[in-house]
Amino acid sequence: MTIPWNRRYAQRMQGVSSSVIRELLKLTQQPDIISFAGGLPAPEIFPVAKFETAAMRVLQEHGAQALQYSPTEGYPPLRQLIADKMRRYGIDATPDNVLITSGSQQALDLIGKVMVNPGDQILTESPTYLGALQAWKAYQAEFVTAPIDANGLCIGDLFEEALRAGPKFMYILPNFQNPSGVTLSMERRLKLVQIADQYGIPIIEDDPYGDLRFEGEHLPPLLALDWQLQASRREAKNGDGLTFGDVIYLGTFSKTLAPGLRLGWIMAPTAVIKKCVTAKQGADLHTSSLTQMIGYEVARDGFLEEHQQVIRRVYRERRDIMLAAMEKYFPPGVQWTHPQGGLFLWVTLPEGLEATAVLEKAIANKVAFVPGTAFYPHDNQGRNTGRFNFSNANPEQIETGIRRLGAVLAKATSALESGPTLELA
Ligand SMILES: Cc1ncc(COP(=O)(O)O)c(C=O)c1O
Repeated sequence: MTIPWNRRYAQRMQGVSSSVIRELLKLTQQPDIISFAGGLPAPEIFPVAKFETAAMRVLQEHGAQALQYSPTEGYPPLRQLIADKMRRYGIDATPDNVLITSGSQQALDLIGKVMVNPGDQILTESPTYLGALQAWKAYQAEFVTAPIDANGLCIGDLFEEALRAGPKFMYILPNFQNPSGVTLSMERRLKLVQIADQYGIPIIEDDPYGDLRFEGEHLPPLLALDWQLQASRREAKNGDGLTFGDVIYLGTFSKTLAPGLRLGWIMAPTAVIKKCVTAKQGADLHTSSLTQMIGYEVARDGFLEEHQQVIRRVYRERRDIMLAAMEKYFPPGVQWTHPQGGLFLWVTLPEGLEATAVLEKAIANKVAFVPGTAFYPHDNQGRNTGRFNFSNANPEQIETGIRRLGAVLAKATSALESGPTLELA
């Protein structure tokens, strides 16, 4: 008998489907397509030799430990390294405030598992990170949103309205947001932590790109601002006497060392860490011991900071090339953001132009990006927008790809001007 699998799937997976866009994006993996679609780092600058030496050293000096089961919380020296890394913001964190996760994607899933009941509202930026939506839809979350502008989340009427829905938490990407590339201003950061404190709504701060600023002044994480707020009022002390408050911070080595490592972390009050540890035990017992030890061996003694400088230099160059090419090849009426760091920028096409239709033509011309609708929690939003990654393609590919897209967009915009019903040629 053939099993009707559809009837065996849990209800919670019903809202989580593969989209038309994802089907289209499969085509972008053909080798002759220049893709600005993925969120991939530049492979040329992965510190492969450093990993080789680190892996040898770990296996030679601690081989049995690296190949053995290990505590769910994570490899103690790595937890210490992360706590130390956050101390530069004046946060007096200890390794007990750190849980190592299998990428920060797992952190998002664990937060869903620990915090989200079916029907719970989550407040997100609009647009926001697709992977978070995917993770939390599987826990049957609902979403309320507030728009973003060049200074990040707009803390205006729509935000206030979203707050009134009583969200379980707010999900905020303060630095070089995925997908838009925009950064939350200092003024709004301060406002946001005050609101979180006032209403008692936690913030999940997802910060994979914060260390990849290549222009402008580094801004403190919401975690640090909240810490200052709590410390100044001597309230909300957790069990350690630390003044952790309303923010759960998510970090990752995916963009600063290598995504294949699958190493991320949660920094939170110890009570939250303990809850997430229990949830993680049911998921994977612990993040790979071998990977954690190699990751630590690579990151230690200042290599992480040294390597970040290389990444910043390369990404800045690629961003500049992409911006200049857009200036040169994109027709009037197309707009884009100017990120000061990270991996992405966001393009807005003239009203009425469908980014998905443009993507189809783009793929036929051997270039790809992600239509913006994928990044909105609700349907039919951002139909004339798209996310462009500038870290993965090399300078020559960026120039060529944007030139090809410019030609597609020129045709599409002139077709739009001749009448809305005209098919793109
Ligand atoms: C905002 C954001 N959060 C989380 C992740 C997941 O990263 P990882 O699981 O590789 O740490 C990504 C990946 O691109 C991201 O952009």
